[in-house]
Amino acid sequence: MAVLPILQEGNEILRKKSVKVEKIDLNLSNLLDDMKETLTAAKGAGLAAPQIGKNIRVFIVDVEDGYYEFINPVILGTSGSQYGAEGCLSVKGKWGDVKRPRKVTVEAYDRYGKKFKTVAKDFFAKAIMHEYDHLDGILYIDKADNIRDEVEKK
Ligand code: CO
Repeated sequence: MAVLPILQEGNEILRKKSVKVEKIDLNLSNLLDDMKETLTAAKGAGLAAPQIGKNIRVFIVDVEDGYYEFINPVILGTSGSQYGAEGCLSVKGKWGDVKRPRKVTVEAYDRYGKKFKTVAKDFFAKAIMHEYDHLDGILYIDKADNIRDEVEKK
């Protein structure tokens, strides 16, 4: 396992639309292990593959609800809304307020190739939507109001 460098805003890999994973294999498991180690080291809530230089549709989320790996995720539905501060490991030292759905239903594959569905709410839903955006080359700063330096966080 390894802690990988996290690409920063301005790197064009972060702006590309990622492609579906073709083969869920040992290489992908190893990548997921490295992503998890990288996320833990960075003390983040989520990490998407483009952030470590891979334009594939994979992200991980580590929140109170648990640790989840999403491969080829599909958002099946969203409802409600929430508005609040967000940051990103690829936009260091900044925060901004983003409107997101309060609830999201997502379907994806796990590292064993098994399809699963999860219904996420509140912070978990926010994290999923943020990471999903990364797969389409979208950063939260594209949608955020009131982007500010970390030291000013409330
Ligand atoms: Co991010």
